[in-house]
Amino acid sequence: MPPDRRAPFLQACRNQPASRVPVWFMRQAGRSLPEYREVRGTGSILDAVRDPALATEITLQPVRRHGVDAAILYSDIVVPVAALGFGVEIHPGVGPVVAEPFRDEADLERLRPLDPEADCPYVQQTVRHLVDELGDVPLIGFAGAPFTVASYLVEGGPSRTLGKTKALMLGRPDLWQQLLDRLAGIAVASLRAQVLAGASAVQLFDSWAGTLSPTMYERHVMPASAKVFAGIADLDVPAIHFGVTTGELLPLMAEAGASVVGVDWRVPLDDARARLGPGVAVQGNLDPAICLAPWPAVEAAALEVLAANGGRPGHVFNLGHGVLPETDPDVLTRLVELVHGGEAPR
Ligand code: CP3
Repeated sequence: MPPDRRAPFLQACRNQPASRVPVWFMRQAGRSLPEYREVRGTGSILDAVRDPALATEITLQPVRRHGVDAAILYSDIVVPVAALGFGVEIHPGVGPVVAEPFRDEADLERLRPLDPEADCPYVQQTVRHLVDELGDVPLIGFAGAPFTVASYLVEGGPSRTLGKTKALMLGRPDLWQQLLDRLAGIAVASLRAQVLAGASAVQLFDSWAGTLSPTMYERHVMPASAKVFAGIADLDVPAIHFGVTTGELLPLMAEAGASVVGVDWRVPLDDARARLGPGVAVQGNLDPAICLAPWPAVEAAALEVLAANGGRPGHVFNLGHGVLPETDPDVLTRLVELVHGGEAPR
């Protein structure tokens, strides 16, 4: 059964009043949960993602434990490019690592269009299993935004400065645009397959877009992200657009075609709303590091987030970035209870 459109998460995404403030956590499935560490084994996360029974179980764990309002598919932003054979691995504690980084025209050939049924059928299979199991809890599908995926392919791994990425962007704008176009097509194919298999919302992760000035973002990145949103618009599912340190980019991230914009903890929600205007829903924005503090401090900070939103509809409570692995899962459960116990948005 597809989830009811009245699920609080979907209503908030549509900027409509909901029966409660919905809450989920980025990276809610993962190393903060003992039950995750128990089933996960020691192989690559990419192997776990290729096992639909395991990926389904891992996705469900935080829903069972915390009672969150949405599940997010257990996968990774590099799964599609890995499935195309670009040569991407994920090293624990490091992130995606690319043996032969993207350098020139010849590397475009390594990024042919994604055929989800042939290249990564396990993703759609996991989505179908999940939709059967989740009942009224919506499933969020996701993709990496062209810029953030490109940053891994160009740098060869995580980078503080994204120097090679920006050098390619400015030094070879023609090649950069072709790279981003291919990655936009791959993201569209992946998101469409997830939605057609039953995901009821999507999130585009542009985690590192905040390293760019608004001018660079608008000129060299936003057109490709806008293509992703345009490519799924007919499916009529809420689309969340997320990044960190994106305070100065928030209006552009909405303009790219998102219905919900993620806000990290550096901008209070009332300020973010002022920058975004009334038509856009917001997601966030508790600092994940605060979850390591004693409960009274966590509670105070969460209440501040709720107060900054001021009871307006269209708020999905979340952290401003992913759950830190050392987080006590009981703190997350208490946060869900706290947010749910609050006053319903008018
Ligand atoms: O619970 C969820 O949020 C769903 C699953 C999910 C993962 N990665 C699983 C994962 C999602 C949505 C992602 C997205 C992702 N992957 C992003 C965007 C979100 C963000 O954090 O900004 C990025 C930048 C990546 C790339 C990536 N993959 C990184 C930086 C890492 C961390 C490396 C590490 O070990 O600290 C990964 C690995 C990864 N992806 C893990 C998980 C649960 C941890 C490794 C593991 O359990 O094997």
